[in-house]
Amino acid sequence: MNIEPQPNGFGASITGVDLSQQLSDDTVRRIRKAWLRHMVLCFPNQPLMLSELERFTRYFGEYGDDPYVTPIDGHPNVIEIRREAQENASPFGSSWHSDWSFQATPPSATILHAREVPPYGGDTLYADGYRAFDALTAELRARCQGLTAIHSARRPYSHAGFVAGGGKHRSMKIRPSDTALATQRHPVVRTHPETQRKALWVNPVYTVGIEGLGAQEGQALIQQLCGHALRDEFIYRHRWQPHMLTMWDNRCVQHCAQGGYDGHRRIMYRTTVAGDAPC
Ligand code: SIN
Repeated sequence: MNIEPQPNGFGASITGVDLSQQLSDDTVRRIRKAWLRHMVLCFPNQPLMLSELERFTRYFGEYGDDPYVTPIDGHPNVIEIRREAQENASPFGSSWHSDWSFQATPPSATILHAREVPPYGGDTLYADGYRAFDALTAELRARCQGLTAIHSARRPYSHAGFVAGGGKHRSMKIRPSDTALATQRHPVVRTHPETQRKALWVNPVYTVGIEGLGAQEGQALIQQLCGHALRDEFIYRHRWQPHMLTMWDNRCVQHCAQGGYDGHRRIMYRTTVAGDAPC
């Protein structure tokens, strides 16, 4: 197995392993180590059946709970991210977010497998939350460390949400719900449970307030922190090829799907791995 990191260490490409086969404990251990170190792993050229994607996911833990999207028939832990050539809705996941950060225990990993990739556009951007934390000014770092953020799924997944509603044609099977109005408290700076590194952990979609601050002041701080976290130097742009698989660490990375492929279809299959309560 060959692990080739991106030049700045954020992201790595792994070749020389066949994910359709059962993996040895040693191979899984090395993939896990690379994932913790490089945060976004890419495995090119991995044609996989759904059962093989499921088996690969389970090497890293229990499945996460994926609300608001109907899973693939017969595969309750796999969702299809689909955008048809003529679709006019924004691509699913095209605002920066960390997956399901509104949950009490958001996923540790997301795994995305490319089935059909447009000839151009449709990249995924990833932002490194560790570097964002490390680069905060001393003043902002001190201010953030004791703060608690409020997360909610209401902006995209309530009945009026921008993913669920909006009257645009969307081929994905979204299930809006009143449960999206619930809120969850998480620290603004989270300590990764495995690496013990600190990551800035707010995102523009699901972070809806800061405890103890008024709506305007909280929103201003979220915008300031997200503006910082999403600076160019913290971002890795991933260009897809068919049958490529990526796996990223939601505990220190946020991501954003790109458009730019109108007139072409894009299909991905996605699973998540359960995580623990951020602290
Ligand atoms: C997502 O998981 O948010 C979607 C990412 C993508 O389709 O590139």
